[in-house]
Amino acid sequence: MPARINSGFLQVRHRYLFQEVARRVAAFRASHPDADVIPLGIGDVTQPLAPAVIQAMHRAVDDLSQAESFHGYGPENGYDWLREAIAEGDYRSRGIAVDADEIFVNDGAKSDLGNILDLFAGENIVGIPDPVYPAYVDANLLDSRQVRFIPCTEENHYAGEIPQGWLDIIYLCFPNNPTGAVITREHLSEWVRYAREHDSLILFDSAYETFIRDETYPRSIYEIAGADECAIEFRSFSKTAGFTGVRCGYTVIPKALSVCTSSGQRMGLGPLWEFRQGCKFNGASYVAQRGAAAIYTADGRKQTREITDGYLRTAGIIREGLRSAGLSASGGENAPYVWTRTPEGMDDWEFFDRLLTATGIVVTPGSGFGAEGKGHFRITSFGDPGRTAQAMERLKRFVDGL
Ligand code: MLT
Repeated sequence: MPARINSGFLQVRHRYLFQEVARRVAAFRASHPDADVIPLGIGDVTQPLAPAVIQAMHRAVDDLSQAESFHGYGPENGYDWLREAIAEGDYRSRGIAVDADEIFVNDGAKSDLGNILDLFAGENIVGIPDPVYPAYVDANLLDSRQVRFIPCTEENHYAGEIPQGWLDIIYLCFPNNPTGAVITREHLSEWVRYAREHDSLILFDSAYETFIRDETYPRSIYEIAGADECAIEFRSFSKTAGFTGVRCGYTVIPKALSVCTSSGQRMGLGPLWEFRQGCKFNGASYVAQRGAAAIYTADGRKQTREITDGYLRTAGIIREGLRSAGLSASGGENAPYVWTRTPEGMDDWEFFDRLLTATGIVVTPGSGFGAEGKGHFRITSFGDPGRTAQAMERLKRFVDGL
């Protein structure tokens, strides 16, 4: 037999969404070298790291320069001082019982959202919201798992109806990427009830929880009673503290959580994940983890909050700009993304191409996030505020001229 590729690659798009966007932008730049491009597509941060984080990372580099304070391989689940800071800062101080040994530090949430699938059998049926961050779908298709889409529409506040049928694994993301929607405590409780009744597992992506300003919305699924028996939570420092280039995040796997083997025996997931990480991962870098721990200091908290406040102000500029162009605007109040319909029902990739060519503005076409995203597009608030304001003026002129 010749070597054969994983047939899952035949199921996925030719290019991952943000690779396709980048390809089109690169082609445009090559053919229009003088164009003034304003990138509001991928949610990549633009503000520098908080001073407290920078200082901690400088000190960490100094540690590495001396034999006495040098660090080689770290523990693959993260240094205890960071796991403890996370458990206290993000959970216990908010009245949520999470222990440091339930925190697994990683190199960003995206890696674990796909890697976690190593723990689960191929025959699990996976429920994925539509529209959605495309990494969930593509990672499951690569593993040839059956995916059932959960439509998330304006009518159900982009939070998805509780399914009638059976789903073994369910991805949820709130505050949501791409719609910027938040989920109410009541609705999230319904998802937890569904998971407990069906012995399903929820993979809860709360990478954007730091943008919640209305505290009536849950930041963590573990605010819902019983979620520790049916949910894994994923968080990231990328958007919380500008770590898109530094790479650090974490996954919470509660000790109370167990899943069945094919013979019906229950197994805790923490030990399996420890094995998986020991086998395939060598831990996030010492410097990144020192930087992450600084987020939990008084200065770190204050400084990172100021940065995320700034992004939310930019989201306000986007919402206002869309409205003045006569377009709808949802999200952007407790989330960094603003979601809107294309003008005159235009196809979203056509809109993307025409907008880019006419104005140099890059957005993300909605259908890249799923079939329900057709005829929509997403704008990120992570861009520079002044440039974003300029982009919104250009967008208005473009829409007015259609
Ligand atoms: C996005 O634009 O959806 C995100 O920045 C992508 C990511 O976090 O990987």
